[in-house]
Amino acid sequence: MFELTAETPDDWWEVEALYDLCFAPGREALSSYRLRDGVDPVAPLCLCARDGDGILAGAIRFWPVQVANDTALLLGPIAVHPTHQGEGLGALLIQDGLQRAGALGWERVILVGDAPYYGRFGFVRLNGVEMPPPTNPDRVLGVALSQDAWNGVQGRVTRIKPA
Ligand SMILES: CC(C)(COP(=O)(O)OP(=O)(O)OC[C@H]1O[C@@H](n2cnc3c(N)ncnc32)[C@H](O)[C@@H]1OP(=O)(O)O)[C@@H](O)C(=O)NCCC(=O)NCCS
Repeated sequence: MFELTAETPDDWWEVEALYDLCFAPGREALSSYRLRDGVDPVAPLCLCARDGDGILAGAIRFWPVQVANDTALLLGPIAVHPTHQGEGLGALLIQDGLQRAGALGWERVILVGDAPYYGRFGFVRLNGVEMPPPTNPDRVLGVALSQDAWNGVQGRVTRIKPA
């Protein structure tokens, strides 16, 4: 019913428009966006979901971030068009994204979001991991893609250092 493909440069503005529709105005003022400034997303993990007519129904992006001396993937933004919410597309994008991330060797994923939703994908509150303020610590969640990947990983989340 939905086709998932890696986002291409041609998809960028369509995905931006979907995010603008689904999030409150000023989304780019959120502190999590400062972690993305001037950093490329992880291209093979940015996915577009199109319906049978080729219309964009959902999208997810991932960015690399630094957690103290370790790297992690920042999940988001993710959005599903209001006409398709509740059909399992959000779950499909997250599960597919996490699976692809694991296959690429990423070990841990972090996000800022609602635990009641993300808990179903294995995300739990990360103690001792600080997103840029102001971020409610209860919304800082993580999942390990390899065993114990979050053990001992603590500290401030910062923009990845340029290679
Ligand atoms: C959050 C979002 C991506 C979920 O996508 P979706 O395709 O509707 O989700 P799914 O169909 O996989 O799951 C739907 C279920 O999640 C629940 N759910 C959705 N958002 C939730 C939230 N913020 N908190 C708790 N539960 C949530 C729904 O109530 C529904 O529950 P049910 O399975 O018991 O019926 C989508 O609602 C959206 O784009 N929202 C606006 C943008 C946004 O908030 N993005 C996330 C920022 S952290």
